[in-house]
Amino acid sequence: MDSYKLLITGGIPLMGETYVSGGKNTSVAVIPAALLSDEECVIENLPDIEDVRVLARILRGLGAQAEYDPQARRMRVDPRTVKSCKVPYAQTQQMRASYYLLGVLLGRFGQAEVGYPGGCSIGARPFEQHLKAFRAMGAEVKERGATISAKGKMTGAHVYFDRITVGGTINAMLAAVKAEGNTILYNAAKEPHVVDLANFLNSMGGKVKGAGTDTVRITGVPHLHGSVYSVIPDQIETGTLMIAAAATRGDVTIRGCIPTHMEALTAKLLEMGVAVTDSDDAIRVRTVRGHRAVNIKTQEYPGFPTDLQQPMSALLTRASGDSVVIETIFESRFKHLVEMQRMGARVRILDQTAIIEGVEELYGSPVTATDLRAGAALVIAGLMANGTTEIYEPGFIERGYEHIEEKLRSLGADIRREQI
Ligand code: EPZ
Repeated sequence: MDSYKLLITGGIPLMGETYVSGGKNTSVAVIPAALLSDEECVIENLPDIEDVRVLARILRGLGAQAEYDPQARRMRVDPRTVKSCKVPYAQTQQMRASYYLLGVLLGRFGQAEVGYPGGCSIGARPFEQHLKAFRAMGAEVKERGATISAKGKMTGAHVYFDRITVGGTINAMLAAVKAEGNTILYNAAKEPHVVDLANFLNSMGGKVKGAGTDTVRITGVPHLHGSVYSVIPDQIETGTLMIAAAATRGDVTIRGCIPTHMEALTAKLLEMGVAVTDSDDAIRVRTVRGHRAVNIKTQEYPGFPTDLQQPMSALLTRASGDSVVIETIFESRFKHLVEMQRMGARVRILDQTAIIEGVEELYGSPVTATDLRAGAALVIAGLMANGTTEIYEPGFIERGYEHIEEKLRSLGADIRREQI
């Protein structure tokens, strides 16, 4: 139980300018990847969030130098002192992306002993496709207790993913970049952070082609040199801020983002009647009329991101008409809607489909965040509601959004913490 709650008094249109931080889901892939280098790496534009700090501790636990400077948003990683291939469950269960240490340690040392990952409870989240890729590249993989042990010299292979998996694609790239021979990943994920990782690996001398398409080709290289690399801005934070601006019927410009990463969301907001205008690294969101209900079906990139389904469903609670939301990626990602019903939202949930009937108003209520993006959705609902909303377990939100309270306050939101 977190020692504090968030208090939000809603009904205030967000106005002004804010900025996007470096991407969480790219950072948690690029940071472990630095261990593949034979020299020191400097990673920049890292968001000041818990997952980045946890990864720095994990890298130090392996013997690497890994100092994160939150002011500079920079981490210096020197892997030359790594002396272990073991990451205990106590560390790995703190986050989902700890399983990237499997691909990195296999890719560099040919062995790994890594505890099961943690992460948001939004479904079963198995990782058999990751292990399938490691086995195809020559690893012997065993699971015992909550630990995965893998051993074997990585050799190039053809891997066909039975389903599109961001984590599986990334883990396979990490294992393959220094493998002997060529690897081809078929049915690969195309998310921006897959491309960002490929760019980082190539900046170290890796040979990764086709990232961002469904076929990634990797030519193994014996050595990777150091690199100074800046991660891309956070696609999901950008989208969350866009939705918050629309939900409060405000006028917000979001700077330092990549508009082309936002096309699926932008299209839906325009369909609702929200005014969205892009420039090369900024997006402006304004409300010029009431919001029409729209239907959402989450898809792998470049489709509508599952991570924005929850924030978007908060916006839809007050659209005029019924919206249908179909979640195709995770099997249990509607818990936030149950919390929003306490705020007056009218929702019917049937398996992977939620029907959201637009209402005139939401009203403040105590609610509890159950995962990172559910927390973001409840913040948006609180910003929309008349009266004050109390959000319990707000720690989830901090995991994925850098300084979100300050950013929203700078746009006029009445949001504050209170000890409990
Ligand atoms: C990444 O999770 C992100 N997390 C998630 O963001 C995001 O929702 C997801 O990709 C989809 O975009 C990080 O990058 C740290 P997947 P990941 O492997 O890699 C199933 C957030 O809020 N699957 O693409 O775990 C899986 O259960 C988080 O920032 C298998 O069945 O997602 C899921 O239903 C939440 N077997 C679907 O595929 C496997 O071997 C997509 O999973 C792997 C995945």
